[in-house]
Amino acid sequence: MKPLKILMVTSEVSPLAKTGGLADMVSGLSFALAELGHDVRIVLPRYSSIGNHVVSVIGPHMLDVRRGLMTGTATAEEVALRAMGAEGNRRPKFFTIRKDEYYARSGLYQESGKDYPDNLARFAFFCSAVLELMALWEKVDGWIPDVVHGHDWQTSLLPVYLKSEVSNRSRVSVTRTLLTIHNIGYQGIFPGEQFESLGLPLDRFTPRTLEFYGSVNVLKGGIIFADALTTVSPTYCREIQTAEYGFGLEGVLRERGDHLTGIVNGIDTVVWNPETDPWIAARYSIADRSGKATCKSALQEECGLPIRKVPLLAVVSRLVSQKGIDLVIDAASIVLEREVQLVVLGTGDPDLEAQLSALEARHADKVKVFIKFDEGLSHRIQAGADMFLVPSRYEPCGLTQLYSLRYGTVPIVRRTGGLADTVVGVADSPRRRKSTGFLFDEPSGTALATVIDSALTKYRSKVLWSNLILRGMQVDFSWEESARQYAKAYEAVATRS
Ligand code: ADP
Ligand code: GLC
Repeated sequence: MKPLKILMVTSEVSPLAKTGGLADMVSGLSFALAELGHDVRIVLPRYSSIGNHVVSVIGPHMLDVRRGLMTGTATAEEVALRAMGAEGNRRPKFFTIRKDEYYARSGLYQESGKDYPDNLARFAFFCSAVLELMALWEKVDGWIPDVVHGHDWQTSLLPVYLKSEVSNRSRVSVTRTLLTIHNIGYQGIFPGEQFESLGLPLDRFTPRTLEFYGSVNVLKGGIIFADALTTVSPTYCREIQTAEYGFGLEGVLRERGDHLTGIVNGIDTVVWNPETDPWIAARYSIADRSGKATCKSALQEECGLPIRKVPLLAVVSRLVSQKGIDLVIDAASIVLEREVQLVVLGTGDPDLEAQLSALEARHADKVKVFIKFDEGLSHRIQAGADMFLVPSRYEPCGLTQLYSLRYGTVPIVRRTGGLADTVVGVADSPRRRKSTGFLFDEPSGTALATVIDSALTKYRSKVLWSNLILRGMQVDFSWEESARQYAKAYEAVATRS
């Protein structure tokens, strides 16, 4: 395949700015594409947090942004980063759009659980500035992407602008776009009155375009105007075309079904590798797993839990309804009667945070809850736990179950989206002999407690458990195969007539 020029436009990328799996997905995919020989540029807003990672800056270039009420200047900089894996050409280039009044804030999208009221302006301006940056590149170094790859609602206005403007920037304006939907639960819905501020023609605010029950739905615009669509697992791709999982966009997605595919995420196997992980107490591998026991006792110590040989269950998650955290709380009354320990790391919904803290207070000898975002601790939990719970109501792909498989921590997951595509259940004949974890169906605390009980039974059989762990650790979740699938999708969309 001929090398492609790919522009990733994103609101998050690891390690610069992360609230969830999107950040890991964009960096993992971009590095894998660069490794395959493609020319990848990544652009994101210059949040305050980014400064810590930057070692030098090329530029800045002034951008004059004028679209609707989104007018003003911004600067674009290429940033060189500290310690970012592969050296040389086979790595993506990073660019940031700087506009401090919009992006130099402590959160990416919100503070203290409250979305920033100007999020539409922030991300519309970002998309608009990216179009100016593309025009600048065309002039300065003749770099025109074969495809612009956007992610989620925050970048969904890019395809809308590209398809709505009679532009004098001839070549850029016909650039093809691919949009990845990471989570249809977040659509970027804003009051209808804000439509005007976008500087789009009025026919972009109809039921066939961005209008959604009187509001502006930015993701809907992306779905309609992007040349191609992907989501992050084949099962989620089917699910979002149904009323149960489509959050009201199932009809629009079905209409664009011919252009929508599901490609499962890989993981960054350099960052998530128990053989080299600098965060964990002892390194281990498939051939020699002895270090995992050290990681377990170190984790028990860090949690202030008794250092005992009891099964250690773990959750690392955003604490929101999507993730089924309430099921964990419901199941706990049954599960904590057994000889087990539970560690939870997460932040999110204040109500769930409070319920988890109350659970910890009631069972201080068995439960530890960390309410914070802590990358290093998330690695230590993956390495130290025996079982990892992902009881999501819906899960587009899910990365934590992939990390747990690689770290020899057996996943217990709900059969939905990417969880169903990446974990093979012990009870799932005829694939049982390939099993790597446990699945359950009904989204209830009782169903979760029942599946945990069957995992606890299997845990007692040393050979069976050890085989389960080994099979999980052997699965290849590297990005290479999925990156090839994306490259094919880019090629198809770039050459489609
Ligand atoms: P989502 O993107 O829906 O949150 P994923 O499973 O795709 O779910 O990705 C979640 C990512 O965020 C994983 O890398 C996980 O380890 C990380 N993560 C979630 N909560 C925390 C936390 N409190 N501290 C550290 N990492 C976290
Ligand atoms: C979203 C989804 C998650 C997925 C991640 C990366 O945040 O909720 O399931 O793994 O995006 O694609």
